[in-house]
Order: sequence, then C-alpha cells, then structure tokens
Amino acid sequence: MKLVVGVSGASGAPYAKKLLDFLAEHGPAHGVSADLVFTETGKQVWAQEIGGSPKYPFKAWSNRDFTAPFASGSSMYDAMVVIPCSAGALSRIAYGISVDLVGRAADVMLKERRKLVLVLRETPISLVHARAMTQVIEAGAFVMPASPSFYSGPRTIDELVGTVVARVLDRLGLPNELMKRWTGLTPRHRADEPDDSSEV
Ligand SMILES: Cc1cc2nc3c(=O)[nH]c(=O)nc-3n(C[C@H](O)[C@H](O)[C@H](O)COP(=O)(O)O)c2cc1C
Repeated sequence: MKLVVGVSGASGAPYAKKLLDFLAEHGPAHGVSADLVFTETGKQVWAQEIGGSPKYPFKAWSNRDFTAPFASGSSMYDAMVVIPCSAGALSRIAYGISVDLVGRAADVMLKERRKLVLVLRETPISLVHARAMTQVIEAGAFVMPASPSFYSGPRTIDELVGTVVARVLDRLGLPNELMKRWTGLTPRHRADEPDDSSEV
C-alpha cells in the first residue's frame, strides 16, 4: 500500500504521532510505504502538543511542493489520511481548493476514487463544517472525527489516543491492537475500583 499521511493544524498531534509510530514500526511488515506532508500550522501544533519536530523514516514533503508523486493520479497511491484534519483543510478539500500539497493530494484521492480518511478535529461543528463534511462524504471520503471512545477501558491518554487511531487503521485495512475490541458487556468494575455506586 502506498499511503500519504497529511498532518494539518488542528489540535490532535498525538493522533498523528500514534499513527506515524505505528507505521514506522509495523508498516514494512504490512507492505505499507508512507509519504508525509505537514502544513505549516500542523508543524506548529506538533511543537506545541508533542514538542520539537517530527522525525520519521518516511519521505517528508514541503506542503508547497507540487512535484511530489502523489500530487498526480498517475502515481497510483492507494490511500491518504489527514490526521488531525483542521476545519480549514476539510473545507479546502471539500471544494477542491488545491493550493497546498495536502489539498492537492486529497483532491487526487477523490478524483481517482481512492481511499481518503479525514480525522476532523473541531468543536462545535458549524453549518459550514457540516456542509463540507457532507460534500466530502458524497465524494467518497471517510470523515472520522477525532472522537475517542471509552468502552474498551483506556487507562492512559496514550490508550485513549489509540481508540481513534485503531479505527483509522481499521479503515485502511491494517491489522492492529491499539485498542481492546468490543466483545460484549464485561463487568463494570475492575478489582482496584471500589463498587460504591448506587443503583440508578
Ligand atoms: C494550538 C492550535 C490549535 C488549533 N486547533 C484547531 C482545531 O482543533 N481545529 C481546527 O480546525 N483548527 C485549529 N486551529 C486553527 C488552524 O490551525 C488554522 O485554521 C489553520 O489555518 C489551519 O491550517 P491548515 O489546515 O493549513 O493546517 C488551531 C491552531 C492552533 C495554533
């Protein structure tokens, strides 16, 4: 699988880090090669939320470099994830405003009918965002809000982040164990938690 990972300037750099860590460790075994592109604000938010600048064994492209192979449909990339995806990036993608490499690469994914996953992080959602979401979904993208889940009992922020990234990897068809899978109801309380709740 040839994959593009775009990182834009929404809060949620830990989601990008978790995905990139997974791909760096397990990508080769799954036959996945990744290309990486950060928006300018994506780099700023990473510095704020993670610290420093990202260092990965992937080819990293400037967001202004339209010579990247995945800026053309003929390069036959399989999928792209924008994680996190800002409301601005969502809106640009929804309306084909390919003024940066993230937008152009996403535009290519849509026109070539390839897999595009947008991990949107914004709240509240305005009508502008909702319409942009509708537009990209109708065009074939998956909008996967950065919306962690709790039913698997995550105990750390890292595990909570994993509940989002696991579902992104699922969408890409990449086997992963970043979260406990739902197998039905399990006892509510763990041994280290006193059961002092009252019945509702
Ligand atoms: C620390 C920080 C956090 C931000 N969080 C969000 C966010 O969660 N969602 C969002 O849509 N924009 C957020 N923004 C604003 C975007 O960065 C801004 O709209 C920018 O133009 C997005 O550009 P990009 O899509 O090229 O990365 C944030 C900005 C900063 C500096």
